Amino acid sequence: MTVSTSLSRTETLSLFSLSAACVGIIANTFQGDGEPLIASIAFSGIAYASTYALIRWLGDVFMRAGLKGRDMSKTRTDEIPETMGAVCAVVYLLIIIVFIPFPFYKDIVMATSGGGNRDLVLEVQHVETGRLLHRFPHSKLSSYLSAILSIQSVVLLGVGDDLFDIRWRHKLFIPAFAAIPMLIVYFVDFGVTQIVIPTPLRSYFGALFDLGWLYYAYMAAISIFCPNSINIFAGINGIEVSQSLVIASLICLNDALYLSPFTEYPHPATDSHLFSLYLLLPFIGVSLALWAHNWYPARVFVGDTYCYFAGMIFAVVGIQGHFSKTLLLLFMPQIFNFIYSAPQLFHIVPCPRHRLPKFNARTGLLECSTAEFRKPLSPLVSAVMRLMHRLRLLRIVENDAGQITESTNFTIINLWLVWFGPMREDRLAIGLLTMQTIVGLVGLFIRHRLALWVFTADNLHYTYSSA
Ligand code: UD1
Ligand code: MG
Repeated sequence: MTVSTSLSRTETLSLFSLSAACVGIIANTFQGDGEPLIASIAFSGIAYASTYALIRWLGDVFMRAGLKGRDMSKTRTDEIPETMGAVCAVVYLLIIIVFIPFPFYKDIVMATSGGGNRDLVLEVQHVETGRLLHRFPHSKLSSYLSAILSIQSVVLLGVGDDLFDIRWRHKLFIPAFAAIPMLIVYFVDFGVTQIVIPTPLRSYFGALFDLGWLYYAYMAAISIFCPNSINIFAGINGIEVSQSLVIASLICLNDALYLSPFTEYPHPATDSHLFSLYLLLPFIGVSLALWAHNWYPARVFVGDTYCYFAGMIFAVVGIQGHFSKTLLLLFMPQIFNFIYSAPQLFHIVPCPRHRLPKFNARTGLLECSTAEFRKPLSPLVSAVMRLMHRLRLLRIVENDAGQITESTNFTIINLWLVWFGPMREDRLAIGLLTMQTIVGLVGLFIRHRLALWVFTADNLHYTYSSA
């Protein structure tokens, strides 16, 4: 299969009509109050169309720049463009930068002419002395800008990694630096470092427990975890983009629960959930365009750039939207994969450069990939691995002397193959994604329904009576 670099007639026509319709919708929002949510949806349509076209046009350019990779799970040996996440990230950043005035349209009008009355002529010294500008929600703007800054920094890391293959132990901590702008805004604006204690434990700790600086460490840890956990749950066509799309859609679903048809009165958390939607909708737009090219059989690879970019967006919306625990519920498969991978990540057992499943060219199916152990493993590690083997959490091969010489790689993707046997790449991806969607939906259900068992109130059903 050759990679076609131009758009077909139908594609050009559909992308063009989509963009034209979206531009029309955006122009229309100026008639009313700016309607930021509608504008955001329209911007996401433009993001989709532009990313789709650019991925196609820039494929060759990326290949010439050396950004390419071989699909290890196919019989063909030619290379395809990699780092297409960079295209997504650039389109995304441009779109959310252009979008900045929209959520603030009402405030700008109010702040500049008073009471939303646009035909009132203001004397310039009133504006400049800030007498009216104080109404402008600077804190909301700084959240938005710091989010952009954090995402942008992590994209730089991702591109650097795709170009130079940065060592794991170095790249692990870079997202923590990228998170600093966002954490400072959190400190200045919100500064809440207390956590609500579940009811059964209240007699020991009280209702609230102040984590202090540990809360910032926790948020930095989330910023490190989200990007990296997506990058290690990778290696089969479409899995990186699809898992990000599932997480993004579930967060949007959770955000929607806080908006008007679902809550009776303006909910106090409406603004932070709108903020999350403004950041996620264009992300879904660019990701769908990438998905169309990265799903089995992949025509492009997403690169580490995409994994970091996606993970950082989730960290940013989770932290600034004040729902980091709900976010972690939606990261269950990634958390499992990380814990399961830990022995290899921390080199307790050897870790090959690639842990993606092994392609069997004869059957066309993917099989578990394995790590070989030349040196004998310590008795404790061997014992644990034998137990895991018996529990079907791993598959090991022992030699005549009873030493473990080989085991399947410690990833959730390989574990799926241990459980369900060899399968085609797309069926493997669909299986894992279905599991992820079900786990996420159950997580959200637990979050909103069963949370009342351990907490006195679920913040979705907010009441004005004091807690
Ligand atoms: C992470 C994983 C590694 C996995 C790799 C695959 C850890 C610690 N690292 O490394 O085990 O093998 O991702 O993405 O868990 N590729 C395919 N098919 C795909 C996607 C990627 O063959 O669907 C190959 C291509 O050759 C591509 C390369 O993987 O060029 C990309 O690997 P890279 O993202 O650089 O690996 P890491 O993120 O370092
Ligand atoms: Mg990667």
